[in-house]
Amino acid sequence: MTGRRLPGPHPGAEPIQEIPRSAAGDVPFPPELWAEAVYSRRAIPTTLAAGHPAPGRNAAEVDPLPQGPRLPLVPPPLHLAPAPGSPADPSDPAVVSALLHYSYGLLQHDLTPGGWPLHRAVASARCRYPSELTLITPTGALRFDPLHHQLTLLCAAVTGAQYPEHESTSRFIVITSRFARTARLYGDYAPRLCAQEAGMLLGAVHLVASALGLRTRPGQDQKTLNDLCAPWLPSAGEHPMGYLELARPPRPPKTGSPVDAGPQRPGDRAWHPPDLASVLRVRHSGAAIFDPEPAPVTRELIDDLEAALATAPLGDFSCHLLARSVTDLAPGHYVHVEGRLRQVSEGDPLALLEQIGQSEGRVSMNFRSTACVAYLAVRRGAAVARYGDDAFRRVHLGAGAAAHLVCVVAARHGLTARVHNGYDAATAERLLGLMPDEETVIFQVAIGAARPPASFRLPVVF
Ligand SMILES: Cc1cc2nc3c(=O)[nH]c(=O)nc-3n(C[C@H](O)[C@H](O)[C@H](O)COP(=O)(O)O)c2cc1C
Repeated sequence: MTGRRLPGPHPGAEPIQEIPRSAAGDVPFPPELWAEAVYSRRAIPTTLAAGHPAPGRNAAEVDPLPQGPRLPLVPPPLHLAPAPGSPADPSDPAVVSALLHYSYGLLQHDLTPGGWPLHRAVASARCRYPSELTLITPTGALRFDPLHHQLTLLCAAVTGAQYPEHESTSRFIVITSRFARTARLYGDYAPRLCAQEAGMLLGAVHLVASALGLRTRPGQDQKTLNDLCAPWLPSAGEHPMGYLELARPPRPPKTGSPVDAGPQRPGDRAWHPPDLASVLRVRHSGAAIFDPEPAPVTRELIDDLEAALATAPLGDFSCHLLARSVTDLAPGHYVHVEGRLRQVSEGDPLALLEQIGQSEGRVSMNFRSTACVAYLAVRRGAAVARYGDDAFRRVHLGAGAAAHLVCVVAARHGLTARVHNGYDAATAERLLGLMPDEETVIFQVAIGAARPPASFRLPVVF
């Protein structure tokens, strides 16, 4: 395996050995990733299966906190709602605190010995949390530190060409990813997980911003992204992934007068449950093996899923639902495209689930007690033709945002959603009837009544 030596995370620390080229590298999403990471269905990365530690495993596990003046954030609220009386303002310190905490903050602390202690608002493969959130204002780039609920000033003044030509009252949230953090456990598989997680985080910011009453426009454009990152992004080790523009909502019209609310744009509004903060505080992915109680999901959950996916921030995906046990809905295969759910076929989909949900010849979770499974499919062929290697980042952003919505909808109904990469993409394409050589599944999300992993999972309050 080719690779390079990176400097250690802090003075005196052992240098991180050999991060795989694709995980560290200059080309963040080489074309082989489709075959290697989407179609390989490896349950265990080769680096771990080979019996020796993944690159960097022996190096200090904790990444250094970014250098720079630290600014405390006001405590986040217990509930999320627009402030009464005036339009939500993305420069309001209370709004910034709430937005960052409920998008990517530390929400639960698991005290189980040997467990993964820190859980954030969004799921992350083995809790590695490779994504970073940076708030960009005309006066600086500020990195969110969830552990301390603070911001670190990375650079002062992001102006001129680097600050996009929008209203000066707009703010931007930029998502970057440190592949090496996930590569320490997953080796070459890391870029795939990091791309998925960046998308989920984009969905999380969009959802919370909407609950706070902000107008939010998510963005994938590479040039805008690079411009936003240019003044502060380190030259290596952290990849720009996506961004969101946050703005005040248009003022409500005065009675009788026409108002220019600006054109309604995709992503301006999002579905969210009434008490989003409480839902996010209880969201979890279940225990190490997904083996839920055999309980049905309700028709209301499916209705919420339909509504939520219709406002997914980037669109460009379809959601295939294999439903086994839903009250008032016949078991079968359903598909959600362009805002509507329609039935494709009837009958218990257990056999399909167990054929798709395989890792290395074994069924990857207990589908017999799982109520339904969502598969998020994208138009890979069209995206690659249009964006080349960058298609990988783009389609994962869009589908990832939708995957987070599935998790939140499940949590709202007291259930658990588990993102699980133990599935066979080629079998999924065939059995779900996707367009050959065009569409592929990039997320499998199981929904069921799984218990949280430990009895010592405590809420974190700042
Ligand atoms: C992109 C992604 C891929 C994942 N893949 C798997 C998987 O293949 N197998 C599995 O058991 N869990 C998988 N998970 C679940 C995570 O390990 C789980 O979200 C993590 O433990 C965090 O738990 P929490 O969401 O309860 O905080 C995945 C999660 C994400 C976000």
